[in-house]
Amino acid sequence: MGVYTEHILPRIVDVACNMKESRQQRRRVCEKLSGDVIEIGFGSGLNVPYYPQAVAEVTAVEPADVGWKLADKRLRATSIPVERSALDGQSLPFADNSYDCALSSWTLCTIPDVAAALREVRRVLKPGGTLHFVEHGLAPDESVRRWQRRLEPIQKRAFGGCHLTRPVVQLLTDAGFEITELDVFYEDGAPKFLAADSLGTAVSP
Ligand SMILES: C[S@@+](CC[C@H](N)C(=O)[O-])C[C@H]1O[C@@H](n2cnc3c(N)ncnc32)[C@H](O)[C@@H]1O
Repeated sequence: MGVYTEHILPRIVDVACNMKESRQQRRRVCEKLSGDVIEIGFGSGLNVPYYPQAVAEVTAVEPADVGWKLADKRLRATSIPVERSALDGQSLPFADNSYDCALSSWTLCTIPDVAAALREVRRVLKPGGTLHFVEHGLAPDESVRRWQRRLEPIQKRAFGGCHLTRPVVQLLTDAGFEITELDVFYEDGAPKFLAADSLGTAVSP
């Protein structure tokens, strides 16, 4: 990783992904988490304040050391144990059927082999376990999609490989998840090409 990706980008994400509108989505996506949880792309722990008390412990998967350091103040403010136990969602060093829930917020856009990461999430979830997600991706409207296709190369360079056109629901169903709750909307406060969010719950059968 270069200096920008390693040191600067996690700080930008820490601020840019902590707007009032994103915090509302974090509250929603976290509210039904329970038991043993794995969070992929933990970043700087912006979801930590929204973990409900029903969560027993959280395994954080995050490659960026700076993100993990920035999480420190949030980790000190929670009573829920959180351990950073892996660096790469594409290859998880955990046994099959280990977790009750998984959490992913604005991460599937960035993981290079997202299909591999979703396979891994399914493998480590218990049968019937749930993935709680809020992700930006391919917009519902063709006029927005056109801009997403134009801007994606710049977005990827500027934001550590972040894609604009990933079809979130299709990726989840291709990985074998069954979507049980879904809300697709444009998040307020950001341009539509960046703000086409899918928020919901997917079950690993
Ligand atoms: C846009 S940030 C979102 C961070 C965090 N989920 C949030 O909601 O604030 C994308 C995150 O994915 C992480 N990431 C990138 N590649 C990854 C990988 N292979 N496995 C797990 N996380 C990864 C990045 O380091 C970054 O923290």
